Amino acid sequence: MKIGIIGAGNIGGTVAKLFAKAGHEIAIANSRGAETLKDTVAGLGETAQAVSIEDAAQFGEIVFISIPFGKYKTLPADVFGGKIVVDANNYYPDRDGNFAELDDNKTTSSEMLAEHLRGAKIVKGFNTIWFEHLKTQGDTNTPVEERRAIFIAGDDAEAKKTVARLIEEVGFAAVDTGDLRYGGAAQQPETAIYNRNLTGREAQAFMGSEGGY
Ligand SMILES: NC(=O)c1ccc[n+]([C@@H]2O[C@H](COP(=O)([O-])OP(=O)(O)OC[C@H]3O[C@@H](n4cnc5c(N)ncnc54)[C@H](OP(=O)(O)O)[C@@H]3O)[C@@H](O)[C@H]2O)c1
Repeated sequence: MKIGIIGAGNIGGTVAKLFAKAGHEIAIANSRGAETLKDTVAGLGETAQAVSIEDAAQFGEIVFISIPFGKYKTLPADVFGGKIVVDANNYYPDRDGNFAELDDNKTTSSEMLAEHLRGAKIVKGFNTIWFEHLKTQGDTNTPVEERRAIFIAGDDAEAKKTVARLIEEVGFAAVDTGDLRYGGAAQQPETAIYNRNLTGREAQAFMGSEGGY
């Protein structure tokens, strides 16, 4: 698949390697411009390219967003229509500044992103796993239910299926927490599953018994 990646730091740089190794075409962008990503793409193989943010969004059948949440409104809202967007962002007020609607639990960071990126099919995912674990814990030789779980939430069932397949291709188990509102809330920092090392089997059982909260 063609995958656009916006944000090329710890998480974006890590998934770029995983997705490229799994055979996907990558177009990756950061805030400073493509010329600053030469070294990053050099390690990703022939089909990877560094591009502008708009071009990464237009390129991807899936667009992976991994930027500081507080910058989400700088993303060009009109180029994501119809795209599957993986939202790996987390809200950290110390880094992002305070958003009253999040502090008051009126919404979730993923719903705010969905509202901004008109027509995108948002799947919250890859946000509960530390990038060093993402780098090292995937294993396609392990049965899926024994692999480290990566949680996903979203309102579009087909988009979630596509992201789940991608997660399995890079050696993890996808575990669905529900829709963007409740599943998205279950995946936020300081929840029971945040940064928790569970296998797919354990994560499914946990979601079944606790509802993830
Ligand atoms: N670190 C983790 O283990 C981890 C795990 C799960 C989720 N997350 C979440 O994932 C997101 C990224 O975290 P990270 O650790 O990868 O951060 P990071 O290493 O600081 O990288 C951030 C990336 O986002 C880019 N960026 C910043 N502002 C941007 C903008 N307005 N438009 C486009 N790109 C922009 C930066 O580009 P420049 O360098 O050019 O500014 C950089 O490539 C955060 O929301 C974080 O909470 C992190």
